[in-house]
Order: sequence, then C-alpha cells, then structure tokens
Amino acid sequence: MSTGPQLPHGYVLHAFDRVESTNDEARRLAEEGAAAGAVVVAAEQVKGRGRHGRAWASPPGNLYASLLLRPDCTIAESAQLSLVASLALAEALVALAPPDADVRVKWPNDVLVRGAKVAGLLLESASAAHERVAWVVVGSGVNIASAPADTAYPATALRYEGFPPVTPIHVLERYLGALAGWLERWRAGGFAAVRPAWLALGSGIGDRVRLRLAREEVAGRFLDVTEQGALLVAQDGDRRRQITAGELLFSDR
Ligand code: BTN
Repeated sequence: MSTGPQLPHGYVLHAFDRVESTNDEARRLAEEGAAAGAVVVAAEQVKGRGRHGRAWASPPGNLYASLLLRPDCTIAESAQLSLVASLALAEALVALAPPDADVRVKWPNDVLVRGAKVAGLLLESASAAHERVAWVVVGSGVNIASAPADTAYPATALRYEGFPPVTPIHVLERYLGALAGWLERWRAGGFAAVRPAWLALGSGIGDRVRLRLAREEVAGRFLDVTEQGALLVAQDGDRRRQITAGELLFSDR
C-alpha cells in the first residue's frame, strides 16, 4: 500500500505540477474560506515571488510551498511567524545536513547554509477588524537541486552543500512536522517561547550589520532579537533601535 505525504494532523495538501505562485493559490483558498492547515505545493512556479518585489526563480527540483494559517493575533504579531517558520525550516534542514553544514536562520526570514541563502520565506496576509489578521500565507522556497547564480547575495542549494539526495516532499514533511510544534508553542507563549531556539541558530548576532529599511539604511551592531521578534541594533554613539521590518545585510560578507 502506498502512503501519501505524512503531514501533521489537520494539514491538507493541494499539489500541483505548475502554478504561477503557490502563494496565489493559497490566497485563493483563504478567500474561499479554506481552513488553516491548507498547504499548496507545486513542482514548478512560473511567477514565483520573493520579498521586496523580487522574482523567485522556481525550476523543478526545489520546494515551493505555501501554508495557510488563521492565527488569533494582531498584524504586528503575525510578523513573528516569519521567524517561527524559518526556525522550523532550519531545524528540518539540520536533521538532514552533513555535520559541517552550519545551518542558520537569518533575521527575519531566510535560512543559510555555510553563510549562503538556501531558503526564503514570503508571508502575505489579510487584515480583519481591530488590527487582527484574517489569514496569513507562509510561502517557503527551498533550493534543493539548484540555486540561481545571479543574486545580489550568495545563494546555494542542498545539493551543492553535500546534503544527501532528498525530494521536495520529504523536506516539506520534515518542515511542517517541526512547524506544527513551534506554532503550538508560539500560540501558547508568543515569540518569547520560541526565541531561545531561534537565537541558538541565529546568524550574525554580535556582528556589525547594515539594515535596509523602507526609507533609510541603518548601520550598527546586531545585539539581540527581542521577545517580540524585533532586531535590536546598537548604532554608533550607542543609540539602540528596535527594527521590526527590514533587510539584514552582513557588513563583512
Ligand atoms: C525571499 O527570500 O525573497 C522569499 C522567497 C519566497 C519564495 C516562496 S516559493 C513558494 C512561495 N510562492 C512564491 O511565489 N513565493 C514563495
């Protein structure tokens, strides 16, 4: 007897050969009233999206998946899901990794292997009344077989880093298995309950960094990630700032 993918209880898989973007399919399900736990996966995307309006190269062989969530939280709190999901994804990759792979999470939404980006997350949401979220789609792209060569940051794939051959669905099973557990902890205790594990895998803490924000760039030392999921940076002159959204650039990479 053949069994399908092993997903956590209540998760329902919607699998496609090719879509424009799995986030768009998950959004459609959300708007049609689908329950939390709907997971869209595709072998290929023809209009994969990254953050900041960038394209996400999506040839066959990598994982493209979007999970629908309906968390009972504010819009601001839902940003923490980026850290929660990237931690789960990093843990899933640690379980598959060769010993020297140095799998890390990069605030707020990437996973690195040996300092190069192997996975990225794109969260999209709709708001409800009183600053609450109606739904959140957690879109995840993991470079398994290939990575683009023309990126602004170093990118890599599991295959280039000595991971054993693994299918996108196998990575998805491990990722969602880890994520279901972290989501329970997050619901019960907020990001404070997830933060120690996130910090243990965090990349660049203590280093000099630059942060690209919506209207400015900030340079300083990456001190910590707060219990709300904000990045705490010490700017020159010891001014401390909490950053809730932005792109982290490592000064020395
Ligand atoms: C980033 O690092 O810029 C985020 C990349 C997110 C890519 C994933 S692939 C599955 C989902 N569908 C999309 O169109 N984007 C996300």
